[in-house]
Amino acid sequence: MKDDIKTLERECAKAIQEARTPAALDEVEIAYFGRKGKLTTMLRKVRDLPEKDRPIIGNVANKAKKELEKRLSERRAILEVEGVSFDDEWVDVTEPGRRPPEGHLHLVTHAIREITSIFEKIGFTRVRYPEVDWDWYAFEALNMPPDHPARDEWETFFIDAPSSKKGKMVLTPHTSNAQVREMERGELPIRMISLGKTYRRQSDVTHVPMFHQFEGLYVDKNVSIAHLRGVLDYFVKSFFGPDRMVRIRPFHFRFTEPSFEIDVSCGVCGGIGKTAEGEKCRVCKRGWMELGGAGMVHPNVLKAGGVDPSVYSGLAFGWGVERTYMMKEGMQLDDIRLLYKNDVRFLKQF
Ligand code: FA5
Repeated sequence: MKDDIKTLERECAKAIQEARTPAALDEVEIAYFGRKGKLTTMLRKVRDLPEKDRPIIGNVANKAKKELEKRLSERRAILEVEGVSFDDEWVDVTEPGRRPPEGHLHLVTHAIREITSIFEKIGFTRVRYPEVDWDWYAFEALNMPPDHPARDEWETFFIDAPSSKKGKMVLTPHTSNAQVREMERGELPIRMISLGKTYRRQSDVTHVPMFHQFEGLYVDKNVSIAHLRGVLDYFVKSFFGPDRMVRIRPFHFRFTEPSFEIDVSCGVCGGIGKTAEGEKCRVCKRGWMELGGAGMVHPNVLKAGGVDPSVYSGLAFGWGVERTYMMKEGMQLDDIRLLYKNDVRFLKQF
C-alpha cells in the first residue's frame, strides 16, 4: 500500500503541475481530494488495515496528503496571478496595437466654430469681451437706466464685489455688452461677431443658466434694415439649409429701434407644433422656435459708444448658440439641458 500511495502522490503532483488554468486545477482537486476522489478513497482504506500497520501507513498517507495540498495551493496562487497560462497560446507580435478611445470637441464648440466661419465669409471678425462686466455695458449704455423695468427680462446674477462709477459687476446676461465695448475701440466701420458665455437664472427644456450667445454688430454709413434682413437670411440658409423657414416678429428691445425677434421653423417637430403621436411639441409648442433678437442700433447706444448717430447707423443681433444648434437639421434634441449633462452616451452620438 505504501507503494500505491507513493504512485498516487506522483500522479497527483504531475496533474497539479500540468493544470494550465484555475478551472483545470479545480478538476484535479475534485479528482483527487473530492468525496470520491482517488486520494480520499486511498485514505479511507488505511482505516481498514490491521492495527499494527495503521500508524506507519497512515503516517505516509498523511504526509502525502499534506504535501499535495501544499502544491495545490501554490499552483493556484500562480495561476490566479497569471490569469491564464499562455504556454498554449500564440501571440502575433506584429499585430498593430489597439487605439485608446478618443474624445472629441463638445457640440457647442463645434457650433461656435461653424457660426464663426459663416460670418467670417461676409467680413465679420470674431471678438471676445468680458463675461463678467460692469452694469454700464450690460444695461445702462444699452439705453436701460437703473431701475428700468426692461432689465427684469435678463434675470441677472450680480457679483458681490465693490461697485465703480460703471455700476455693479454682473455675469453678462447677454453678449450685447460687446456693442459699446467694440465702439469704444474707435475704429469704424465695425463688422464684429462677439461670442461668449452668458448667464441667467433660468432652467427648463429651452433654457440653461449658462449658455452662449453670438452678437453681430455692423456700424457704417447708410446701414439699413435691408442689410439686417440680408445678413440674417444669409446666416439661416447657411446654417440650417435652404428649406427651413424664418420669420421676423416685431418686438421691443431698449437698445434697438425698430426691434425684432427671429424665429425658425422647429427642427424637432418639422414646424407642425405637434409630435407624430399628436401631442404638443415639447420644445416649440407652436411650430416656431425663437432663436434671437435683432434690430437697428438705437441712437443712444451709438452715442454711448462715441459714434455720431447723425452720420452712422448700425444693425445688431444676438442669438443663443445652444438654441440655434438644437434647431439644426436632424438634431432632434428635445431638451437643451442634455448639452450640459455630460452624459457620454449622449455626447458619443455626435
Ligand atoms: C437678447 O439677449 C438680446 N441681447 C438680443 C439682441 C441683440 C437683440 C442685439 C437686439 C440686438 P433675448 O433675451 O431674446 O435677447 O435672448 C436672445 C437669445 O438667447 C434667445 O432667443 C435664445 O436663443 C437665447 N437664450 C436666452 N436665454 C437663454 C437661456 N436661459 N438658455 C439658452 N438660451 C437662451
